[in-house]
Amino acid sequence: MRRREFIVRSAVLALAPGTLAACGSAEARGPGGWAGVRASFALRKGDHNLTAWWFATHPAPVRAAIERHRAGLDADARHYLTNRELLEDDVRAAAASYLETSADQIALTDSTTMGLGLLYAGISLEPGSELVTSTHDFYATHEALRVRAQRDRCTLKKGELYARPEHASIDEIVTKVRRALGSKTRVLALTWVHSSTGVKLPVREIADVVAQANRDRAPGDRILFCLDGVHGFGCEAATPNALGVDFLVSGCHKWLFGPRGTGLVWGTPHAWSRVSPTIPTFDRREYAAWMFGRPAAVAAGPIETPGGFHSMEHRWALKEAFEWRRQLGGGAVERRTHDLAARLKAGLAGARHLPLVTPRDERLSAGIVVTRPLRSDPDDVVQRLYDHHRIVASVTPYRERLVRVGPSIVNDEDEVDLTVRALRELS
Ligand SMILES: Cc1ncc(COP(=O)(O)O)c(C=O)c1O
Repeated sequence: MRRREFIVRSAVLALAPGTLAACGSAEARGPGGWAGVRASFALRKGDHNLTAWWFATHPAPVRAAIERHRAGLDADARHYLTNRELLEDDVRAAAASYLETSADQIALTDSTTMGLGLLYAGISLEPGSELVTSTHDFYATHEALRVRAQRDRCTLKKGELYARPEHASIDEIVTKVRRALGSKTRVLALTWVHSSTGVKLPVREIADVVAQANRDRAPGDRILFCLDGVHGFGCEAATPNALGVDFLVSGCHKWLFGPRGTGLVWGTPHAWSRVSPTIPTFDRREYAAWMFGRPAAVAAGPIETPGGFHSMEHRWALKEAFEWRRQLGGGAVERRTHDLAARLKAGLAGARHLPLVTPRDERLSAGIVVTRPLRSDPDDVVQRLYDHHRIVASVTPYRERLVRVGPSIVNDEDEVDLTVRALRELS
């Protein structure tokens, strides 16, 4: 036992010197640094929760905002709602300032899945159009595309982007995307960070390939690059404009630690011009246009925001989530997440019975770290991690079942080192 601990500790300390230096350098803005950030969450004491990709725990400012709105709605929903008609605009404005974009380009949803469903249902497509995705994408993308392709007699193509995730390269991925695009392709549907392998796609490079393919096309024939961004959103600092995508679809209830049951779709003006709403908006201008029979000029973001009442206390508290995250600083959060993930991967490197599936190259990875236990069943490993050390992890929800952990701003170096020791011991 002692010897094993010594080996693990050496592995952890054998991190590249730059990584250790970076661990100290990415301090959080605000009181208490990263410890202050951790203290803001109400996670169960004694647990080590490394599942930011699952369903968010709320930080203190988000909890307070939800409670305030909930009390108001419980007291008198009629007046509280009427007086807060403009709050949704404030949420969109806060999201826009976090994403460095225009509020008009942002539609609010309840989840990534809802955003993907609305997007792929609403894009205008001729029969015979081709929709291209990858084998690494999540169920929600595959199903939304399958249903749409069936409805309008489109072709759905699923290709592999890398043969071995641990050895994936930017060149391999970009070449495979380039080859998959054809003259009939209208939609390229990919995922920023794969929840199956932890691979982060080189989105900017792929966007350049799409731009090249679109160069001589009429606007309506251009390929729309649609990205399920949920495992990059709130952990990577890149804005949608910097990524160069046409649509970024994300839940706000994973790495952003926004209110549970919130999400958004961001699109460029051209991209939105090719989508029709599926669920009528409750935007006041559009509603007035219907009542009085006169047209209204309402931007894509509000028009594409599904109407009906929602769990409004959660939707409105998204404003505080974005404001809090802007205070922490996107760059600092990205650095912190990458530093902790690099520490974890360095600690696991060389464990023969537990090869890493996620690349160590941080251009091809983010916060998710996936490993393949060769001696044990992945479900048993995850169960033992909790039973022995109260480490919360999960098994990937895909055909190939692997062990998945992922440090985030709710974790610290000690928890990462404990996870390294526990994974090596229990796998
Ligand atoms: C890649 C990916 N997209 C979407 C989802 C679903 O997200 P949401 O709960 O926001 O619909 C998941 C997992 O929960 C996922 O792994």
